[in-house]
Amino acid sequence: MMTLGIVLAAGKGTRLKSPLAKVLQPLWGRPLIHRVLDSLSAAGVSQAVCVVGHQAEAVQASVTNWAHTTPHNGSLQFVIQDPPLGTGDAVAKAAEALPTTQHDVTIITAGDVPLIRPETWQAMVATHRERHADLTVMTASLDTPGSYGRLRWNDATGEVLGIVEAKDLDPQDPDPSVHHWVNAGAYCASLEAIRPLLPKLYALMNSNAQKEVYFTDIVTLAVQAGLKVQAFVLGDPHEMQGVNTQEDLAHCHQILNRWTLSRHMANGIRILDPAATWIAPEVTLGAGSTVYPGCLLEGDVTTGAGCVLGPHATLRGPVTLGDRCSVTQSLITHTTTGDDCHLGPFTHLRDGVTLGDRIKVGNFVEMKNASLGADSFASHLAYIGDADLGIDVNWGAGAITANFNPLTWEKHRTTVGNHVKVGSNSVIIAPLTLEDHAFIAAGSVIHEPVPARSLAIARVRQKTTPDWVKVTQSANPSLANT
Ligand code: UD1
Ligand code: CA
Repeated sequence: MMTLGIVLAAGKGTRLKSPLAKVLQPLWGRPLIHRVLDSLSAAGVSQAVCVVGHQAEAVQASVTNWAHTTPHNGSLQFVIQDPPLGTGDAVAKAAEALPTTQHDVTIITAGDVPLIRPETWQAMVATHRERHADLTVMTASLDTPGSYGRLRWNDATGEVLGIVEAKDLDPQDPDPSVHHWVNAGAYCASLEAIRPLLPKLYALMNSNAQKEVYFTDIVTLAVQAGLKVQAFVLGDPHEMQGVNTQEDLAHCHQILNRWTLSRHMANGIRILDPAATWIAPEVTLGAGSTVYPGCLLEGDVTTGAGCVLGPHATLRGPVTLGDRCSVTQSLITHTTTGDDCHLGPFTHLRDGVTLGDRIKVGNFVEMKNASLGADSFASHLAYIGDADLGIDVNWGAGAITANFNPLTWEKHRTTVGNHVKVGSNSVIIAPLTLEDHAFIAAGSVIHEPVPARSLAIARVRQKTTPDWVKVTQSANPSLANT
């Protein structure tokens, strides 16, 4: 008993008004079609067929990338639909490419409906099998059915009779679906049962408003042919949210965010204001963590136990935080920390930062492609770029690495040993090494290596002129009161 998946992804997506193909639009950083394939694969689909047409090369490349980067147990193939004549034509093209199938159930779904959960697919496939249906249509009752196709029912028997597209509703007649039962655009079919009906869809294309070959017409044809057609009602109608407009895409972000926050809260994570917290589904938060308002966590982010994030922390993966870390008012990307690290307020870590345990990187400190050993501090107003700092380093306020040569456009590394103290407002001109226990006097511009346990001081010696003010004032009476 195997399940085949046909994913329709050839349409133009005109209503999105975006140069990027619709099914490649990112939903929490992952293309819509990847999320569809993730779910089908998790539901046990063993073979997936993607129908591509508009921007076919880009869509194929992205889906191939999905196959290479996402663990899955199935095969994948592409079918070209050119020109895209409608969803019915798309399914017909897929069926032609599959002259015989080993699969008793075929899921047919759209690449722009990204939120259907694997458990939902499994439940739908199970009822399709149990009830020996030929066609199962996923549906939900919506308060505002909008642009979704409406289901027509036989009121006496409760059977589905057909689907009327929103654009084909007769303004004179009442909505055929008085309870707003709409078509999710997701179906289970016995492909061999519906195969003979697919050519008949083309004859109906001139009778609809869009002059397209509608797959939705299959329902009426199947009922007329005496096939068993049934509806599968979604427990959570949010799952059928499709993406036709930017507004729909924003809605999908909100729905997925809300599900993710609920899952974290059910696991004991304290989220003070779910309406002001944005967490991608991939993010893992350690037990007993707290998320304050204004946080945006996306991509491959994992935090340890007992972390405190925010207010206003942006973590863009890959980011891994150890246990009991805090991040306040900061932007953290490509970073790994040990335990008990405290970042912010106003810290920017980027492009490969590694921190040991018990580190503080504080106010207005930027680190880039750099590491900091355990028990070190960079508490105020600093820049540490292309540098490896040892343990117990105290990086003073305003100290910076001068890592970039603007004439050659070369970056150079700074190596700092253990227990080094870099005084405030120092400039460390890379490439350079400061050995263990080196001591850099405040305000120094250091361009030569500093041996272990040495003091380096590189600034003009202070000159103090006694009575300078008095002498100047008496030479110029107008300055007497200054
Ligand atoms: C479709 C359904 C509608 C349902 C809605 C649910 C039809 C006629 N209508 O409408 O009843 O409520 O989905 O989201 O099926 N595609 C192709 N080739 C084509 C045309 C479309 O592959 O020739 C793909 C698109 O890329 C998209 C999917 O099919 O992923 C659905 O097409 P779309 O034009 O978005 O259909 P809707 O108007 O949303
Ligand atoms: Ca759609």
